[in-house]
Amino acid sequence: MILLIIGGNDTTRNSITGGLLALHDHPEQWAMLKRDPGLISTMVPEIIRWQTPLTMMRRTATEQTEIAGVEIPAGEKIVMWYLSGNRDERMITDPDQFIINRESPRRHLSFGFGIHRCVGNRLAEMQLRVLWEEILSRKLDIEIIGPAERTLSHVVRGFTRLPVRVN
Ligand code: HEM
Repeated sequence: MILLIIGGNDTTRNSITGGLLALHDHPEQWAMLKRDPGLISTMVPEIIRWQTPLTMMRRTATEQTEIAGVEIPAGEKIVMWYLSGNRDERMITDPDQFIINRESPRRHLSFGFGIHRCVGNRLAEMQLRVLWEEILSRKLDIEIIGPAERTLSHVVRGFTRLPVRVN
């Protein structure tokens, strides 16, 4: 229950703020979105990749193994950096660019991978999709009027404050 309540709160909230900031920092992408609101469907996963609301998770090796030539003894703790994977140029074209019409936007690691992959991933995407559909259909102009203040954490990649004016 704690995972459901906390896991589904901070992450989506920070994706909302992060997405707004990304569009603000990439005005050409924002203009493209306004011209074609159909791009919301590819923009949402791109926002989640770009923001990577959880930077990492940790696992404990149940048996000795090897990853990319590195030996991992049984019992060793391993950190999986989603943030790094989401900027891997071998897997993602121009990973340091925010591109709302990517060809395979859901190819990211923000929701983790494997048996514990985020159970709320579709719900999170739906929340962001509905939010942006409403913002665009109501023609809201959201202006950022002050600097973003970021969460001090090595796990949560988010914001404590982003002043905006809604016109
Ligand atoms: C953009 C939003 C979200 C992000 C980036 C995110 C990210 C993650 C990540 C990285 C994990 C761990 C995966 C792993 O250990 O392999 C996870 C697990 C989980 N998430 Fe999310 N999450 C989001 C939204 C949500 C929502 C909306 C809910 C539910 C309301 C939710 C519920 C959970 C639960 C219950 C788990 C544990 C799954 C398990 O251990 O089997 N998450 N999430």
